[in-house]
Amino acid sequence: EPTALWGGRFASGPAEAMSALSLSTHFDWRLAHHDIAGSRAHARVLHRAGLLTDSELSGMLTALDLLENDVAAGTFTPVVADEDVHTALERGLIERAGTELGGKLRAGRSRNDQIATLFRMWLRDAARHLSGGVLDVVEALLHQAQLHPEAPMPGRTHLQHAQPILLAHHLLAHTQALLRDVDRLRDWDKRAAVSPYGSGALAGSSLGLDPAAIAEELGFDAPAENSLDGTSSRDFAAEFAFAVAMLGVNLSRIAEDVILWCTAEFSYARLHDSWSTGSSIMPQKKNPDVAELARGKSGRLIGNLAGLLATLKAQPMAYNRDLQEDKEPVFDSVDQLQLVLPAMAGMIATLDFDTDRMAELAPAGFTLATDIAEWLVRQGVPFRVAHEAAGDCVRRAEARGVGLDELTDAEFAEVDPALTPQVREVLTVAGSIASRDAHGGTAPARVAEQRDRVVRRVEEY
Ligand code: ARG
Repeated sequence: EPTALWGGRFASGPAEAMSALSLSTHFDWRLAHHDIAGSRAHARVLHRAGLLTDSELSGMLTALDLLENDVAAGTFTPVVADEDVHTALERGLIERAGTELGGKLRAGRSRNDQIATLFRMWLRDAARHLSGGVLDVVEALLHQAQLHPEAPMPGRTHLQHAQPILLAHHLLAHTQALLRDVDRLRDWDKRAAVSPYGSGALAGSSLGLDPAAIAEELGFDAPAENSLDGTSSRDFAAEFAFAVAMLGVNLSRIAEDVILWCTAEFSYARLHDSWSTGSSIMPQKKNPDVAELARGKSGRLIGNLAGLLATLKAQPMAYNRDLQEDKEPVFDSVDQLQLVLPAMAGMIATLDFDTDRMAELAPAGFTLATDIAEWLVRQGVPFRVAHEAAGDCVRRAEARGVGLDELTDAEFAEVDPALTPQVREVLTVAGSIASRDAHGGTAPARVAEQRDRVVRRVEEY
């Protein structure tokens, strides 16, 4: 018969609606394995403090092992009367170790320090797992960059044709953002690696227990400096929620590119059948659902961050039950990304680019106008004047319906006497791209170096 962990001072049990509101096992049960790991560490510090004998410790650890196996096998699960994961697992422990021994484990700890610790443990594992998924997306982008090392495309600002760039340069831009997301999660981990275990309900532990020993056993760098902060701060969760929301936003930018690229108007790329869906009415449709769901879910991740921050705002010291609301938004963000990341990696890796079409469009919209201006600057013309002259060339070419390279020698000379026929040397897509050869630029050699550096960073993680 399950009982609450706090029955002593109550003459009656909770009302049904009270229990229904309070219940958290439907989402905190996923912390069960971390809770059991925490219980093992706690049993050891109780033993070291002389509160468990040698045989009690070994009996406790055996019962925890049995419980862990049953949890893993799904043969031990919470029942409705178990308020939360901690209550359920104490019931499971008592069923296996007996009331006498099982009832000793709770000494010197509170669900407040437990939950704060378990949540950190779970998120640290999730961050490592998500980072692996992000690196798979980076590898898919690298794969495409390697397939098309020198394919040109129109580079855009304001979605308008701007200057020619390499497709590989565009793909690598997304890898830079994703690697920052991985870096952010790693940096976050430094602050998350602090163990609140031993903070008790709020004031710390009085039974001679050693928070540093538990912290070390559970893989943390240090125990919490302040038991109030340890039990009630959740900025680690909010910061995590930001890091993954930012990741979602970065994924949504890739998604948006793919959606555009696969339209009839762009026709830069085609989706693989395995990574697209059809329409129930229009037989010809091939829809970019992976990209759209990634884009859509980024809104959900932003909402999870905003909701969590709103929950945390103005909570008085120390623990408040409001904090039970901290877990679902972050769990949801992780769950969504675990669906999105492998699908994005698969979709990107199998994109079929039409590089001929991209090359054909690269000079369209007078994307080489900047090259005329910069050529004039190299002849000693002030950029102000050069910019005007290049603009004049665009106006003339547009009026005649020709490309910039098709203007006559006379037309160039009319625009500016400095515009000799030699200007045509820079009026090619390849010449324009090759000229942007400073660090970080789109010249093929620079892009190849950038790609090598990204490959090395991925290998180093
Ligand atoms: N379920 C709670 C949470 O998620 C932990 C239990 C603390 N409960 C309490 N009554 N102090 O934050």
